[in-house]
Amino acid sequence: MFAYGRDILKKRRAEPREDLLTAIANAKLDGELLADEYLDGSWLLIVFAGNDTTRNTLSGAMRLLTEFPDQRAKLASQPDLMANAANEFIRMVSPVIYMRRTATRDTEIADQAIAEGEKVLMYYGAANRDPAMFDNPDALNVERANSDKHIAFGYGPHVCVGKRVAQIQLEEAYRQILGRYPKATWTGDIDIAPNNFVHAISRLGLRLVG
Ligand code: HEM
Repeated sequence: MFAYGRDILKKRRAEPREDLLTAIANAKLDGELLADEYLDGSWLLIVFAGNDTTRNTLSGAMRLLTEFPDQRAKLASQPDLMANAANEFIRMVSPVIYMRRTATRDTEIADQAIAEGEKVLMYYGAANRDPAMFDNPDALNVERANSDKHIAFGYGPHVCVGKRVAQIQLEEAYRQILGRYPKATWTGDIDIAPNNFVHAISRLGLRLVG
């Protein structure tokens, strides 16, 4: 995949198009085109960041809709709730498990001292199920008033570039799936890959019931 990515990005240098890969291939850092390892990193982000996250949220949502049938019924009868529901699914699945930061100065968070230079892991799922922020956090609530206050996309200067794309894609995918199979039901079968960075559902059984 790296070889394939480099090949495409180099082709975009030779023959630019109106697309995102052309923008990455021709981006300059301190006046220089990106070195190969940065091309690999950017390719990895595009392939992996925008793929594993969205599809795991999608399969996770199918499981949640089976576990909370009253919410599925509500969504089926009130399709206007879809955008809010899409955020609620992302909140509950939180497909990216953590990112790490390095403290630039001494600070304190919730009585925990953090020294300059220390590495801090930010567990998105923990924040997104914080009872101080979300009422009854382990329950799916497609009408949750603050479902958009989750931080599954991160926060600050590195906030997910694909945030809006993911929300639009997921909202439309649920609309299409539930439009055709309003009673799609998780069979109870699930394989979760051993991965500590992304909540990776490698297989999820679904009965497609109309
Ligand atoms: C439900 C779907 C998604 C979730 C939960 C998600 C989550 C995240 C998180 C947690 C970060 C790191 C933020 C940080 O370090 O502060 C991130 C970064 C990023 N995401 Fe997403 N993402 C999703 C979909 C996408 C899609 C669809 C794309 C591209 C089309 C994408 C592209 C990126 C890129 C390029 C970055 C790096 C941004 C940077 O470091 O400046 N993501 N995402």
